[in-house]
Amino acid sequence: MPGIRLGIRPAVWHDFPMGRIHIREYHDDDLDAVVRLWWEARSTAEQPVYSLAEVTASCREDHAVVAVRDEEIVACAVGRAAHAQGWVVFFGVSEDARSENVSGALLDALERKMAPLGLSTLSVLMPEGGRLDLLTSNGFQLQHSLRYLERQMPVQRRELDLLKDVGGRILPRHLWGNVAGMRREKQLLEERLVAPLAQPDLADRYGVVPPHAVMLFGPPGTGKTTFAKAVASRLDWPFVEVFPSRLGDGVTSMASSLRGIFEQIGELEHGVVFIDEVEEIASQRSDPPTPTQGVTNELLKIVADFRDREGMLLICATNFVRALDAAFLRHGRFDYVLPIGLPDAEAREAIWRRYVPIGIADSVDFTSLVAESDGLTPADIEYAARRASQDALARALRAGADRTPGSDTELSTGDYLAALSVTRATVSDEQQASFLEDIETLARL
Ligand SMILES: Nc1ncnc2c1ncn2[C@@H]1O[C@H](COP(=O)(O)OP(=O)(O)OP(=O)(O)O)[C@@H](O)[C@H]1O
Ligand SMILES: [Mg+2]
Repeated sequence: MPGIRLGIRPAVWHDFPMGRIHIREYHDDDLDAVVRLWWEARSTAEQPVYSLAEVTASCREDHAVVAVRDEEIVACAVGRAAHAQGWVVFFGVSEDARSENVSGALLDALERKMAPLGLSTLSVLMPEGGRLDLLTSNGFQLQHSLRYLERQMPVQRRELDLLKDVGGRILPRHLWGNVAGMRREKQLLEERLVAPLAQPDLADRYGVVPPHAVMLFGPPGTGKTTFAKAVASRLDWPFVEVFPSRLGDGVTSMASSLRGIFEQIGELEHGVVFIDEVEEIASQRSDPPTPTQGVTNELLKIVADFRDREGMLLICATNFVRALDAAFLRHGRFDYVLPIGLPDAEAREAIWRRYVPIGIADSVDFTSLVAESDGLTPADIEYAARRASQDALARALRAGADRTPGSDTELSTGDYLAALSVTRATVSDEQQASFLEDIETLARL
């Protein structure tokens, strides 16, 4: 899409074979004609760059001029000022009125209208293959050095207040890339969640129905929250976390407060809604019923409502998948029930590298650290790494003035291995065994 610029010229009246054309300011009554010209342009290679909504908004709020022949509007130019730069938002000339003179006069009139705003340049974006002659013959110069890029904003401005009310936020875009290793889990999430939601047309072609609700389960601290956030970041959808523990204030019941939050969330166009530790509000029903039973029922209704909506994904996470109410995991509620286990070797190395100071990274034996931290969670590794750093610093301080770079007071692999030997694994062997059992009996990939 080349960009084009204009110098200043006077506007004129024109005698045309089919009648006299004159240029005047846009009035509200001209809107239909501008819409017609926009659609005419749509059917040619001229493809308007700005949407019809943008163009009509600019007609009303910015600057527009029209060319009239025999009381019919045959051309229009619509512009918008951005500091010293003016943009032609739409320039449409009907086929039988195309001439350099009419175009020139129209663009000059627009420029005269906008010049008092302190503009120094008037720019036009044209689609590849669009006709440039009406512009280049009127003083616009093609800027060969420019390319046009854009990216979609994840949430419309009007949604930001709503998002704040429900405690939602837009996450940074790099979170997906930050999840190290865990290739199997990442591939599964990419194929089952991200791709069908991000490319619904492609999914439709293969008869894949985009998911509405998924359950992540696994031992504590293995990255369930991290993955939920990474999915939102990857989709570029806002992330809204609902905290079961904050539901209900003594006056409103937990169930009605949950319903209230989800009604608000329902107004968002897109969103990943995350409920961590969902077993707190969806554990097995008991007799006599527990106070959370009403919340469990409400949550079941919410999951059902989610299934009727496009563009929203509910992610629930739990450490105790076997404690969940059976109705909750029944087919037709959650599209997938996915295990998230302990970090693999690649993930452990990346987590180690996050905590080992860059200055000593070359001399540290990561292969041993990775091997010795098998079975630990990311949080356990963080604990061991910090402990090694603290111990080494204390040793250096005790050595006082004697310490020199390269001496045995420096932080080294030995410190990390020593810290590892006193780090208790969060996930016990029994927990790991139950997790593997849960994968067999409850996972749905
Ligand atoms: N694959 C990974 N790569 C890098 N860091 C990770 C990875 N997985 C988890 N972490 C880190 O480990 C910590 C714990 O992860 P997270 O809070 O997501 O676990 P969780 O399963 O939600 O835990 P819990 O069960 O306690 O809610 C976080 O600091 C996170 O950044
Ligand atoms: Mg968590």
